Amino acid sequence: MTNPAERIAALRTELDEHNYRYYVLDEPSIPDAEYDRLFRELQALEAEHPELVTPESPTQRVGGEALAAFGQVRHEVPMLSLGNAFEEQDLFDFDRRVREGLDLPAGDLFGGGSEVEYSCEPKLDGLAVSLLYQDGQLVRGATRGDGTTGEDISANVRTVRNIPLRLKGEGWPQMLEVRGEVYMPKAGFEALNARQVEAGGKTFANPRNAAAGSLRQLDPKITASRPLEFCCYGIGQVSEELAETQVGMLEQLRGWGIPISRELKLARGAEQCLAYYGDIGARREQLAYDIDGVVYKVNRRADQRQLGFRARTPHWAVAHKFPAQEEVTELLDVEFQVGRTGAVTPVARLRPVKVAGVMVANATLHNMDEVARLGLMIGDSVIIRRAGDVIPQVMQVVLERRPAQARAVQIPQQCPVCGSAVERTQLVRRSKGRESLSEGSIYRCFGRLSCQAQLKQAIIHFVSRRAMDIDGLGDRIVEQLVDTGLVASPADLYTLTYEQVVALEGFAEVSARKLLAAIDASRSPSLARFIYALGIPDVGEETAKLLARALGSLTRIEKALPEVLVWLPDIGAEVAHEIHSFFEDAHNQAVIGALLARGVQLQEQGDLHAEFAACASFAEFINRLQIPFVASTGARTLAERCAGLPELIALSQDWLDLNQLKGLNEKARQSLRDFFAEPANQARAQAIEAQLRDFGMHWQSERKVAEGLPLAGQTWVLTGSLESMSRDQGKARLEALGAKVAGSVSAKTHCVVAGPGAGSKLTRAQELGVAVLDEEAFIVRLATLEAAG
Ligand code: IVH
Repeated sequence: MTNPAERIAALRTELDEHNYRYYVLDEPSIPDAEYDRLFRELQALEAEHPELVTPESPTQRVGGEALAAFGQVRHEVPMLSLGNAFEEQDLFDFDRRVREGLDLPAGDLFGGGSEVEYSCEPKLDGLAVSLLYQDGQLVRGATRGDGTTGEDISANVRTVRNIPLRLKGEGWPQMLEVRGEVYMPKAGFEALNARQVEAGGKTFANPRNAAAGSLRQLDPKITASRPLEFCCYGIGQVSEELAETQVGMLEQLRGWGIPISRELKLARGAEQCLAYYGDIGARREQLAYDIDGVVYKVNRRADQRQLGFRARTPHWAVAHKFPAQEEVTELLDVEFQVGRTGAVTPVARLRPVKVAGVMVANATLHNMDEVARLGLMIGDSVIIRRAGDVIPQVMQVVLERRPAQARAVQIPQQCPVCGSAVERTQLVRRSKGRESLSEGSIYRCFGRLSCQAQLKQAIIHFVSRRAMDIDGLGDRIVEQLVDTGLVASPADLYTLTYEQVVALEGFAEVSARKLLAAIDASRSPSLARFIYALGIPDVGEETAKLLARALGSLTRIEKALPEVLVWLPDIGAEVAHEIHSFFEDAHNQAVIGALLARGVQLQEQGDLHAEFAACASFAEFINRLQIPFVASTGARTLAERCAGLPELIALSQDWLDLNQLKGLNEKARQSLRDFFAEPANQARAQAIEAQLRDFGMHWQSERKVAEGLPLAGQTWVLTGSLESMSRDQGKARLEALGAKVAGSVSAKTHCVVAGPGAGSKLTRAQELGVAVLDEEAFIVRLATLEAAG
């Protein structure tokens, strides 16, 4: 058996090497699971031999004891900052000063002159730190502070995963101070904020603040839990000279295990610097971390020394900034917009400000919870962020600048467009057999299609490609149609005349005829498209397809009770309620009636789908009546005892019989009796039962086998990724074979297709003993079934 000290040393070297390959070279050579195994082996050995634990061990990144205060660190070589270039001209000026400083011949109109070599790197948006290595061991970490004195954050930097605790290889100076930026990658930042929200803690406005807040923690365990990374861009004091160029030196450091930028490049002259700036700028959004510009440094270190520095900025380096993605401006007002489903959303009206090169005057505020989270008041100074194509967002209030006359943001009681009542949505929750309502974060105008704002959006949705697919009816035209009063409901589209259309702005003979033809062509949609086009809140394409397939006719969908809809897969109480109340609404009924009267003919009407035949069991039916204290076991007992609902009602009212029933306790018996003593409850239960029967979903319905389709009645689940097709394609092929494709695995699942990256669904399938196919087997199965069909 190997000696533990040797094994520990070997494990540390191996783990350090993997860390280096992973973080510095970006070429991991073993899977994460293998790394974890080695790590756990080391942890176990160290637990057995605590005397062998050293501060450099890769296990020692969890963070030690909390400090009372940070100590101070004096920077022997001051930590400088950079001058900025904003315009191209600033860069040309910088380059000219460098050439003058180095006594290089100037160019003339025809070019010429000598070009200076610059090292180029992104300018990371984090905070500068200094790391001191002595005899190859990390001995100290410090913040920049005022450039001369910083804070001792040694315990914290040790928790940053890609900072080596000891240098690798050989040839490093006995004393080596490296400098660079600690930052938080964007993905880690998003995940951290999500965790903070969940834990009810405060969120960070941007990755930079998050990095600073995480590194300047007195408790290093907190730092250890934050996704920080380090990137080196230079050195401080060294006991021996390093390579003679900036790029050479950074590469030398990388060889010792210090992470440097993967975007490090050498440029000749200002023009090549500009090309670098353009290239990084174009990829800015795709980078894993925030940057606010690029940095050019004269490459020859002898030249750097000759150029020197003044005050706190070197003459040999400059930061070429990108247009800022964040700006401060004033919140002038909050207005409310009404969306398709009536959601009333706050929109920030801002004092116009240029952010990342574009004038911004509005920003979305999502909902009133977001307004509350930001603590926003009208008149506040706010930080606005616009990154790439993302819509501008309000990130934070600058509280110190809040004016005395700042006003609270209030949700209007009436819809700003139609004057109908605005109410906060309620969320229906069910627990322990009781329904409870809680407040949602959305406010809604209840004007429905009588509200012009909702009407416009509803029509835009109605005609959209995946709905009725009416080509040539753009948003502007819809607005005109509504504003001119020609269209007051989707049904009015089908009575538009040539004279009306040709008179609209932007129309001529040909375009008017084309639009009318497109409207005409949309008259025979599938039931699923039609349901989707109606724009029922929470009913997307998938739910629309499901409703169409399960119930087969508009009439059934219209009259379906919420308690019946919830028997369909993926329809919860919330959605069932939305569907039901949509069809109960008199205005909606009138619109649907008019659509049908004006010649819209739905396809695929009539058949009930075999997949849902007899899907309701009597026990589950009783369970879902939500009788207090009668849970699923009680429901099963009752279902065994009674042949059907009439017997159940009779039993509940017969005290003697009920008392003899085993498997139901006193409280449950009492509650059952009280429940059915209420005529309204009896009537409701009867109505649900009757409808389940009507829809073929009743437990006594005939279980039809779908004719022809080989996978009818089967539920499949797709998880992980597929290489030869998209998941949507896989789903479509399964559905064409009669299968239902569900989102979660249960005992009723027939088969799970697990591609690479499959996680909890695969585990669940294995636990339940559900059949699992890999992609290859899946393709073979599909091909065989399709060929047979
Ligand atoms: S060089 C003498 N390179 O920007 C040179 N700084 O305003 C000193 N920064 O405090 C810094 N990325 O926090 C340099 N590639 C990079 C950088 C970088 C980010 C930060 C650093 C510094 C500030 C300078």
